[in-house]
Amino acid sequence: MDAVTTRDKWNRIHQRRRGVCPPAATVLAENSHLLPPDGGTALDIACGLGGNALFLARRGFIVDAVDIADTATHAVATAAHAENLPVNALTKDISAWEMATARYDVIVVSRFLERSLTGAIISALKSGGLLFYQTFTETRIHVDGPSNPSFLLRDNELLRLFEGLLVRYYREEARAGKLDRGNRDLAFLIAQKP
Ligand SMILES: C[S@@+](CC[C@H](N)C(=O)[O-])C[C@H]1O[C@@H](n2cnc3c(N)ncnc32)[C@H](O)[C@@H]1O
Repeated sequence: MDAVTTRDKWNRIHQRRRGVCPPAATVLAENSHLLPPDGGTALDIACGLGGNALFLARRGFIVDAVDIADTATHAVATAAHAENLPVNALTKDISAWEMATARYDVIVVSRFLERSLTGAIISALKSGGLLFYQTFTETRIHVDGPSNPSFLLRDNELLRLFEGLLVRYYREEARAGKLDRGNRDLAFLIAQKP
């Protein structure tokens, strides 16, 4: 799918959601004690309606929130402005956006997978910076998430993609055990740049 088609598709989806900001991703909300206590700089990749970006800004981070869909970035900018939060909402195709080297204390990616960004994400983290990542796996048991299988993680793939980082947290239950329990459909990684 080219960038214009992707943008139009996501603008339609975000318009249907009427700009309602979702909660922060589980990997971030449930592990926020790992965040640098004094805040810093953060990047929310493919931010959507800004759940992660606003969560981080409320905790003292200056946040760049990037998404290809202007409907999304306008909603994020409006929400941030209403709370006087330092969120810089950028309408960009993340694949064509040059991430600054060693800029961020925290990078978060939720429900988005673009494997070609791996090197840029690692290089955009400061030394000691943290990556919070969660997205859908091909072993998911529900229909949530992308229909295109190439946007689904293979077994343990986040660990392989970010093997240059130090793992601080990882969870991927796949289809082990009782499927009506646990936290299925997603892989969760928190990793730190040496
Ligand atoms: C499933 S949503 C996830 C949004 C948000 N991260 C969340 O978890 O609520 C995927 C987001 O990726 C954005 N997106 C898709 N392709 C993109 C690209 N090439 N560059 C930037 N954003 C992109 C879409 O506009 C959409 O907001």
